[in-house]
Amino acid sequence: MLDVNKIRMEYPILQSGVIYMDSAASSLTPEPVLDKMTEFYHQYRANIDRGIHQLSQRASEEYALAHEKVARFLNAKSDEDVVMTRNTTEGLNIVANGLKWNKGDKIVATVMDHHSNFIIWQRVKQRHGAKLEIVRPNEQGLFNLTDFDRAIDDSTRLVAIPHVSNAIGSIAPARDIVKIAASKGALTVIDAAQSVPHMKVDVREVDCDFLAFSGHKMCGPTGSGGLYIKGEMAEQIEPSYIGGGTIQDVSLGEYQLTSGWRRFEAGTPAIAEGIGLGRAVDYLTQLGMENVRTHEMELGRKLYEGLKEIEKVKVYGPEDPENRVALTSFNVGDLNPHDVALALDVSKKIMIRSGHHCALPTMKEIIHADGTARASLYIYNSVEEVEVLLSTMEEIARSLG
Ligand SMILES: Cc1ncc(COP(=O)(O)O)c(C=O)c1O
Repeated sequence: MLDVNKIRMEYPILQSGVIYMDSAASSLTPEPVLDKMTEFYHQYRANIDRGIHQLSQRASEEYALAHEKVARFLNAKSDEDVVMTRNTTEGLNIVANGLKWNKGDKIVATVMDHHSNFIIWQRVKQRHGAKLEIVRPNEQGLFNLTDFDRAIDDSTRLVAIPHVSNAIGSIAPARDIVKIAASKGALTVIDAAQSVPHMKVDVREVDCDFLAFSGHKMCGPTGSGGLYIKGEMAEQIEPSYIGGGTIQDVSLGEYQLTSGWRRFEAGTPAIAEGIGLGRAVDYLTQLGMENVRTHEMELGRKLYEGLKEIEKVKVYGPEDPENRVALTSFNVGDLNPHDVALALDVSKKIMIRSGHHCALPTMKEIIHADGTARASLYIYNSVEEVEVLLSTMEEIARSLG
């Protein structure tokens, strides 16, 4: 069980009375994470891996330790398998830009993908003559494995899936999809932006080749994220950027890149942010990811069921709470979702997201609307806050007559 009242004390922003329900876009950051970043600036503010002096040594140790912590959090085999990035988008681009593509390579993606895990594959198609096949879920956003079995064939080089849809919160059977892909020799890329913050994700159990996530959606600082690359796969990815820190050796005629995460982190990295992300995973580990999921399932159920009961409100996403996270997309009558979001902010300081959620294919093919209002919850949200949202939504719906 999470002690929500205690957790809330660690977020000064909540003391102003805002009801923050936009964690799928970016979560709030707790004091322990900010303290850890301040510790870097106050005590060992120096570059990493570039100095023999004690400040650089300490910064290097802390930054490397942050990789270890994130690797442990994901159950990666080695800390060398976790590259620090700015966000999920950067991680996915590293994979799409770094693989050597051949004309006719097939990529399988889905209607549920965020643009960050969609247009990169469209670009590979344009640039390298790859083929792109798109798998569709049902109207609740749930996939049928036979559709992947049919779409993935011997020419399939890579399968890209969203672990959890940011548009409607549906959870994909990642492990089963990876199994199908692996049985046909295809690589797998998982966009875990909406799963890693909310449930236990074990990369060795899922057994994917690549998995990207955003630190800023899981209590970490903005400008932090990570890309998991399964061991030997790193050699198959040509880094987008090379330079200081990425080399084994350089002579006048040639250069040799190093291995592990340093191969991909060219130049001075976002040191404070990386160290902050390490602290964020400690923080979540202390809360317990099972407890996080239990709390969110309880709140998510109340949110979804409560909204569904309001006349004129249409909710999207899976009926079964096991198949979704605590994120509900909805529309009210024919109100523009931006107007709904504005009304909630102005009347009760409730912050939600509105629009297409960077998932236009999902909006066009599954939701059949230009956009939705979306409330997404996290560890610091309380039952009382969900009740305020529901009662305010009732008022808004009633005002439509
Ligand atoms: C499913 C999904 N993928 C990718 C992204 C992109 O994340 P970032 O902006 O951190 O790169 C998001 C952000 O909302 C997301 O929800």
